[in-house]
Amino acid sequence: MSDLARFPDGFLWGAATSAYQIEGSPLADGAGPNIWHRFSRRKGAIDHGDTGDAACDHYRRWAEDVRWMRELGLSAYRFSIAWARVFPEGRGALNWKGVDFYARLVDRLLESGITPAATLYHWDLPAALDDRGGWTNPDVAGWFQDYARTMFERLGDRVPMWATLNEPVLVSDAGYVKGVHAPGHRSVREATAVARHLLLAHGAAVEAFRATAKGAIGIVVNLEPREPASDANRDVEASRRADLYFNRQYLEPVFTGRWPEGLGAILGESFRDFTPAESARVAAPIDWVGVNYYARRVTRAGPDPPLHADDVPPDAEKATDLGWEIHPEGLTRVLVEVTERHGKIPLYVTENGAAFDDPPPNRLGVVADPRRAAYLRDHLRAARAALDRGVDLRGYFVWSLLDNFEWQKGYSQRFGLIRVDFATQERVMKESGRFYRDVIASQGAAARD
Ligand code: FCB
Repeated sequence: MSDLARFPDGFLWGAATSAYQIEGSPLADGAGPNIWHRFSRRKGAIDHGDTGDAACDHYRRWAEDVRWMRELGLSAYRFSIAWARVFPEGRGALNWKGVDFYARLVDRLLESGITPAATLYHWDLPAALDDRGGWTNPDVAGWFQDYARTMFERLGDRVPMWATLNEPVLVSDAGYVKGVHAPGHRSVREATAVARHLLLAHGAAVEAFRATAKGAIGIVVNLEPREPASDANRDVEASRRADLYFNRQYLEPVFTGRWPEGLGAILGESFRDFTPAESARVAAPIDWVGVNYYARRVTRAGPDPPLHADDVPPDAEKATDLGWEIHPEGLTRVLVEVTERHGKIPLYVTENGAAFDDPPPNRLGVVADPRRAAYLRDHLRAARAALDRGVDLRGYFVWSLLDNFEWQKGYSQRFGLIRVDFATQERVMKESGRFYRDVIASQGAAARD
């Protein structure tokens, strides 16, 4: 085994989850409802009418789940904090029981030698704030800053790694353009305001972090390399627009304080530039960037505003069960591109994984999920290749620790290293989990065999 296959010392080997997708007990101990709690009750919004009411029951089984992390040998765990557990109304009165839940989790992780990596916003806005316009209300940046500051004050001494937002383009696009995520609106005008407020909220949280905590703070974006479906001009243009809108809409302002050139032409008349003061806030220096990577997209011209572009579905045998193309080279490419565009900043793969319809455990209790193990192996090699190309990659987090509530797909899509039987809440480590355990134990070498 050549040492080149290994990852650097101190590389973080993680798994990721998010609050609404795993916790269950959404209203326990004084928590307020969030927009997913509401949205999942809307008829037809979620496959099979699923909700996050039970999810993985992690709110009660968190100690067992930390034991599974130890079984895997994780050195880091990325989770998100449910804003409405901490501030049931989104602002105002603090709910100590909500803070305590995360404090206990963090303490147990640290005792277990696992680095906690906390995300402040993984899509679960308190419903009380949505009643005031949610992300369309300019005040949201201040509400988010107050919530963020509270978490830094309570946990900043113990959590070394913080993310402000998870995948902001999904918040604005899926939540406010396509209406397939909470709050389920369909308005480009709203989405344009939401994008601006998300970026201002991010910057406001970074400012609060510098004043209260010592660790590192960053943002998590999802990146998908785009290829035109043909060399016809309309497809090439559609692919360029999709790259601008999906891959650059948030990351460029975070580094430059400016929207990417050409975004205004896509978003239309409600688009406006940042003022100098807003620019400075949006571009408050960050310490790292998290990249969620799942797939490449082949893009063609399409009818729907604002992008007038859509995706060509990949061949089924080259895709996961969600129809996402399996394209490991794309991971190397996006990591190299971020480094080339924005300089050599520490990067993490904050999510990477695959949905496959796993068989239930066999008589020996084995969950055979060879396609997921192969997906992870190939993407780990792609991550290793990025290191060889000069990327300052500091860690890799599998999505996900557990099978969980996959947003509008409900429980129909399984991403976990650990299988969850949603009727009994029983957990079983899948073969992909065993594979990842070997990868961690060999510092990456097992992904080479
Ligand atoms: C990402 C989300 C995460 C999960 C995966 C499959 O877009 O951040 O919550 O649903 O996709």
